[in-house]
Amino acid sequence: MTIPGFTSTGSKRPVALYGRDDAMPSQMVRAEGCRVWDVDGREYIDTIMALGAVALGYGHPSVTSAAVDAARAGAVGPLAPKLEREVADKLAAVLPGVSWVRFLKTGAEAVAAAVRIARAATDRERIITCGYHGWLDWCQTGAGIPSAVQALRREIRFNDVADLEGAVLEDGPIACIVVEPVVDEAPTAEWLAALRETSTRAGAYLVFDEIKTAFRIARGGVAEQMDVVPDLVAVGKALGNGYPIAAVGGGEHLRASVETTWISSTLATEFVGLAAASAVLDVFEAEAVVNALAESGAGLFACLTNLARKYGDIVTGVRGVPQMCYLTFATEELSGAVSVAAAERGLLFKRNAYNFVALPHSREVIDRIGTILEDALGAVSQC
Ligand SMILES: Cc1ncc(COP(=O)(O)O)c(C=O)c1O
Repeated sequence: MTIPGFTSTGSKRPVALYGRDDAMPSQMVRAEGCRVWDVDGREYIDTIMALGAVALGYGHPSVTSAAVDAARAGAVGPLAPKLEREVADKLAAVLPGVSWVRFLKTGAEAVAAAVRIARAATDRERIITCGYHGWLDWCQTGAGIPSAVQALRREIRFNDVADLEGAVLEDGPIACIVVEPVVDEAPTAEWLAALRETSTRAGAYLVFDEIKTAFRIARGGVAEQMDVVPDLVAVGKALGNGYPIAAVGGGEHLRASVETTWISSTLATEFVGLAAASAVLDVFEAEAVVNALAESGAGLFACLTNLARKYGDIVTGVRGVPQMCYLTFATEELSGAVSVAAAERGLLFKRNAYNFVALPHSREVIDRIGTILEDALGAVSQC
């Protein structure tokens, strides 16, 4: 195998999807709306939605057409594209507290850039984090990560004000508090207020990692939904609806700090990702996407809650918020068996991690997902 671990995106490995190496489907050739076709031409309904990278549906016509036009326009060149500023203006208009943005290609890069800017602005090294922020060294543990880097970071529990305040007191001067504003449940207003207040009091910057939540829970993510303004924000995933684009943005007070540190990437300014983001921003402006996702999410969440009650022998609960939710299972084996059974019945359903609703998940599709899942759970529960 020329790709160690089967694929370059860890969450797409068969073992991640199904708990086993040999389960199917493992490779695909096409996607459209909320449907996916595997290498044998078999069609599936999908709730994984490219790990949340797609909220408007695969191959959304206006995004595709913008991306194709950008490719035809040469895709990249030696100068900053005019489009970059246009997309930056549109993005800043919908992200709370944001007056400047810098584009990058991945979510991990965007959050890393936010942390770098906070460290540059404060001249401090220690940081506090909560949630997943990508694969880069600054936020990872384990093989290959220098212990000196790991020692600079302290992880706190989500929605736990006492843990947050304890960490800030004990950790000495910190550069920033980086949080994913949804981790398995919605944030409480008390937690968000404590984050805002504690970071200001500590002379640290508050960073919202809205890679999953922006352009999903609201255009401006949880910051908009809950009316809390972070100092820095990272967005990605649904912003490009499948094309590679991410951004870090911040308030006026941090503009000068961005230029004191080197954040630059050769293809950060290629046109295709920028054009896709521009089209996505236009769709969110013209259509009630956020409401539609909330509505279909409510349908999916209710369906999962109902199934969790009915199959309490194997399902232990429902996690997340309507727009991004999942089932928890009594054992790893059971979660794998259910995802295999769902795939056999034509549904790609993420086990132990978020399923995401997208525009093409109509009421009928959600009903169909419920029927397939019920059938899969019934089959596994009888084994
Ligand atoms: C909250 C959050 N931050 C950062 C990342 C990293 O994004 P990417 O995989 O695009 O580098 C992810 C990816 O799942 C994420 O969910």
